[in-house]
Amino acid sequence: MNYFERMKIKYEELKTKKDVVILSIESSCDETSVAVIKNGREVLSNIIATQIEIHRRFGGVVPEVASRNHITAISNIFEEALAEAKIKSDDIDAVAVTYGAGLVGALLVGVNFAKALAYNLDIPLIAVSHVHGHIAANYISHPQLEPPFVCLMVSGGHTALLEINDYEEFKLLGTTVDDAVGEAFDKVARVLGLPYPGGPEIDKLAKVGNNVYNFTVSNSLKDTFNFSFSGIKTAVVNFVHNHEQKGEKLNKADIACSFQEHVTDELAVKAIKACHYAGINKLVVAGGVGANFRLKEKLSTRCESENIEFYAPVLKYCTDNAAMIGSAGYYMLKRGLGLADLDLTAKPNVELGAIYAAKNN
Ligand code: KG4
Ligand code: ZN
Repeated sequence: MNYFERMKIKYEELKTKKDVVILSIESSCDETSVAVIKNGREVLSNIIATQIEIHRRFGGVVPEVASRNHITAISNIFEEALAEAKIKSDDIDAVAVTYGAGLVGALLVGVNFAKALAYNLDIPLIAVSHVHGHIAANYISHPQLEPPFVCLMVSGGHTALLEINDYEEFKLLGTTVDDAVGEAFDKVARVLGLPYPGGPEIDKLAKVGNNVYNFTVSNSLKDTFNFSFSGIKTAVVNFVHNHEQKGEKLNKADIACSFQEHVTDELAVKAIKACHYAGINKLVVAGGVGANFRLKEKLSTRCESENIEFYAPVLKYCTDNAAMIGSAGYYMLKRGLGLADLDLTAKPNVELGAIYAAKNN
């Protein structure tokens, strides 16, 4: 029997095993992370090596530099994750890895490490979509949280509203027609001369600013669950450039605050609408922008007044980490989904809601 035939049997057996320990790997962008997760929700370790300082001087992530740094970091991070979890590699039941979406070169480092490990230990390999990982960050943060719920997915790569009917059943209600919201945050931060990554900087600066500029979000999508952030982004960029050309002084805090107020309003209004539309009174936010203070404040206040339960991941699970990938992998395993063969490769784009299926499965 070849590796994959053996793994199909093991995967089936693991479905009913009482305690399942998953080692998970995330390397889709500028964080190298390895975690050990027990039964989908218990984090035994979650080691993250961030490259933020390395990329900061370039004003954004340089893909080639990211790949090289993942290669340098991954073996040590793996050893650290085992040590912190106080387990040996023989105790791992399966390996889960982000196979997309993300930077191909960066993803490949994690995928190849995971394949070598799974093959060497003769254990199943689970291919996890990065977005599913972000959603699962909430399962780790809130032990009682179960589907169904509506998810507002807000990251550097995605902005979407999803109806999550079961752990692996996703229905797309709406998505961005242009920029992801994190991208807009980062671009506005950049034009204001704030360091990378810009989202947290805008968040901080907005706290001392006022909402005085009318940077509006396009009205054309108001009757849909779709989003557009390129208009407001360009409005801010043009505003800043015009003022700079005239030599006028800018109030960066007011710009940050006005931009953030309009963007978070749009997200909050549509997220609540989506809950009503889906008839679900549970809203979950996921992804890096889910760390935004003002967005969480608005979602939480509005949910309270509409009798909707509101969940956000604890801060450390909001941005990229391997623990969330291990949690998503666990629920895939329990449903017999996502088992990968050794031909698994990195994918720059993965459709929201898509679940990996090996060719010969
Ligand atoms: O989920 P994530 O770590 O990576 C992707 O999967 O894209 O999200 C990164 C994005 C970046 O655009 C970053 O600026 C943004 O999340 N972000 C924030 C905050 N923290 C991170 N945006 C607004 N406010 C924050 N506090
Ligand atoms: Zn992410």
